[in-house]
Amino acid sequence: MTVFLFLCYYVYMKIGNKEIENPIMLAPMAGVTDVGFRAVCSKFGADATVTEMLSARAMAHNPRKTEFMTITTDAEKVKIAQIFGHEPEYMQRAVKSPILEKFDGFDINMGCPAPKIVRNGEGAALLDNLSLAKDIICSVKNATDRPVSVKFRKGNRLKNYLEFARMCEDCGVDFITFHARTVAEGYAGHSDWEALAEVKAKVKIPVVGSGDVVDAKSLLEMRKTGVDGVMIGRGALGRPWIFAELNSNSSKKIEKIDKFGTIEEHISILRQHFEDSWLKLYIRKHLLWYAKDLPLASNLRLTLATCNDVDEALDILKEAFLKEV
Ligand SMILES: Cc1cc2nc3c(=O)[nH]c(=O)nc-3n(C[C@H](O)[C@H](O)[C@H](O)COP(=O)(O)O)c2cc1C
Repeated sequence: MTVFLFLCYYVYMKIGNKEIENPIMLAPMAGVTDVGFRAVCSKFGADATVTEMLSARAMAHNPRKTEFMTITTDAEKVKIAQIFGHEPEYMQRAVKSPILEKFDGFDINMGCPAPKIVRNGEGAALLDNLSLAKDIICSVKNATDRPVSVKFRKGNRLKNYLEFARMCEDCGVDFITFHARTVAEGYAGHSDWEALAEVKAKVKIPVVGSGDVVDAKSLLEMRKTGVDGVMIGRGALGRPWIFAELNSNSSKKIEKIDKFGTIEEHISILRQHFEDSWLKLYIRKHLLWYAKDLPLASNLRLTLATCNDVDEALDILKEAFLKEV
């Protein structure tokens, strides 16, 4: 149920047996939503977190890589694993895999626009193949009692998003997440919130909106479409505290935001699981996102971009945050 009262907004969405008020979730982002990032976003109020997309086929043949991407912490409130593939039997095996046992629910990726995924008939390619998409969803639903959602885009070659949304509903999915851009649009321009409102009006299952929520104003605007939940992706890059900022007028309010302490925590969680040789390469993009609004000399920014020593990078950020206060 959605109620607007003098700009107050109340929506309750159930994921499995967890009922969430005004849900704001962390979007799946390949190469970004690692265990540390999911943990710090959760501490700032992300109600649910989604892993980066996990290949159902790789899970069957090379589970080790997937295992690293599926490490979680207790900070995450509702843990969702996102899987992708074009073979119903592999998708079914994935949700039964012991690697995914700790997750509260599963999301099926039917929106990834990356050419190598689409060429393989996966991700957004499934938007043009409703019968295969249906087979995949049904096989996943049949393999688990846990909630299953589908995340999809506005279209690939066809613009059949309303038919696609209804198909998901008919297959019994628990909720859908809609990113209202076509494959051709990639991430450019603004996502089509009128299409989001259309989807919301056409189905009875909960609809989560994804795309272009970056602050309180855009959150309010997206909520006007009637969506049951909101996902934040790029708006959280270098700013996991965005969840606290967006909840600042709610019961989920957080009093103190320690930005540098958050970065340290993100990295410390990663250090518990990953070798330094991997971490110093992986963390570069996060360091630059964390530094993006800081007054940093270009040589220091370059040191972050080419990070060879994670402690040195932390010292640079610490100094810059001290100057910011
Ligand atoms: C770096 C990056 C990686 C992404 N990886 C995934 C992914 O693995 N699965 C998925 O469904 N969407 C993925 N997305 C799309 C986001 O989940 C989200 O739908 C999109 O970025 C629009 O939301 P935003 O404007 O809040 O970023 C990715 C987006 C970015 C920027």
